[in-house]
Amino acid sequence: MLGDFTYSNPTRLYFGKNSLDGLAKELPNYGKNILLTYGGGSIKKSGIYDSVVAVLKSAGKNIIELPGVMANPTVEKLNEGRKLAKDNNVDLILAVGGGSVCDYSKAVSVSAYYDGDAWEKFFLKMEEPDNKIIPVGCVLTMVGTGSEMNGGSVITNHEQKLKIGHIFGDNVFPKFSILNPEYTFTVPQYQMVAGFFDIMSHIMEQYFSNDDDNTSDYLAEGLMKSLVHSSRIAVKNPKDYEARSNIMWTATWALNTLIAKGKSTDWEVHMIGQSVGAYTNATHGMTLAAVSLAYYRHIMNDGLKKFARFAVNVWGVNPEGKNDSELAEAGLKALESWMKEIGVVMKLKELGVTPEMYDGIADGTFLLGGGYRKLTREEVIEILKESM
Ligand code: NZQ
Ligand code: ZN
Repeated sequence: MLGDFTYSNPTRLYFGKNSLDGLAKELPNYGKNILLTYGGGSIKKSGIYDSVVAVLKSAGKNIIELPGVMANPTVEKLNEGRKLAKDNNVDLILAVGGGSVCDYSKAVSVSAYYDGDAWEKFFLKMEEPDNKIIPVGCVLTMVGTGSEMNGGSVITNHEQKLKIGHIFGDNVFPKFSILNPEYTFTVPQYQMVAGFFDIMSHIMEQYFSNDDDNTSDYLAEGLMKSLVHSSRIAVKNPKDYEARSNIMWTATWALNTLIAKGKSTDWEVHMIGQSVGAYTNATHGMTLAAVSLAYYRHIMNDGLKKFARFAVNVWGVNPEGKNDSELAEAGLKALESWMKEIGVVMKLKELGVTPEMYDGIADGTFLLGGGYRKLTREEVIEILKESM
């Protein structure tokens, strides 16, 4: 473990079938005015809305509603929310939904008391908040992003064709999150498997960096194995509590900073996927699925030992009689067949990408260099073509 690091995580989690009881425990810590943020209506259909509102009312809270947070939340919606939060002197933002609602609530929390252009400050310039931050709590209804226990907030600017994530510090993490696996039972299959791939991608983005022997990589392998196992059960029976609860827990640990410790981390698949998202508004996990295999085949030889280890330790490929290149390729083949088995999108054209978009997507792709090799802009275009 060669890297130096600090570790802390301020989010308190309540997990399980009765986890909403945690909300009642948390509410006395905050003032009266609660901004209730949610998406396009799934929580009303499922009854989660009624359960949450009942807890808020019995705690005597004043509820200000902010519905209509879209998947891939926009700058315009952010500006609506920050005004509402400030005008109503909000004491807590309670996000009830998936990563989009949770990310959005964090963006509102840092922007409400900033008077300038929040998109420019927090996303284009990546500055940290130096103004009052409204605390955020989360009731998670869709699994994948890890937003329930991290500082990530991804906002889309359709006018500028940019989708940018800011990883804020501890002060922006949710103060608490409620994780009830049963709340995820109503997630449509397409979204569910997109979430599964998002989890896998988060782990791979951190795993495929550095060459030293690092406990974080062993943790990552365990998480990937658990995800592959449970996802195979969940695609056949989405109401399997054991599988869905394991996946929910895996998603949280995949991106709550733990397995990044001592690692440079890659994140190039996310950079390409987010730029694809800015052009197509496609579902996040599917944008990652469509470009991952082409990306990993581009960098495989630069991190050959790790790709060979991935094949053996995650996918159970028998190393006998195979050199590292053969093993690495077998690992990617196993990843590909799992992706097909759970039913993710394998090609960018299925997400609405057209050749006219290649240049723009490449321009919107940040080239990070934390993985085994820094891509060039030309390679991004090659990867897009190979992913069609
Ligand atoms: O809007 P509603 O009606 O609630 O429907 C949502 C939405 O259409 C639906 N849904 C959620 N829970 C449901 C449900 N439908 C039925 N039953 C339920 N229980 O699912 C759809 C997708 O929801 P969304 O929140 O958009 O999905 P996800 O959790 O994948 O979040 C995606 C966003 O998170 C960002 C992505 O870029 C994207 O903008 N990310 C955030 C990260 C972070 N904070 O660290 C990291 C990720 O890499 C990712 O970039
Ligand atoms: Zn992701």
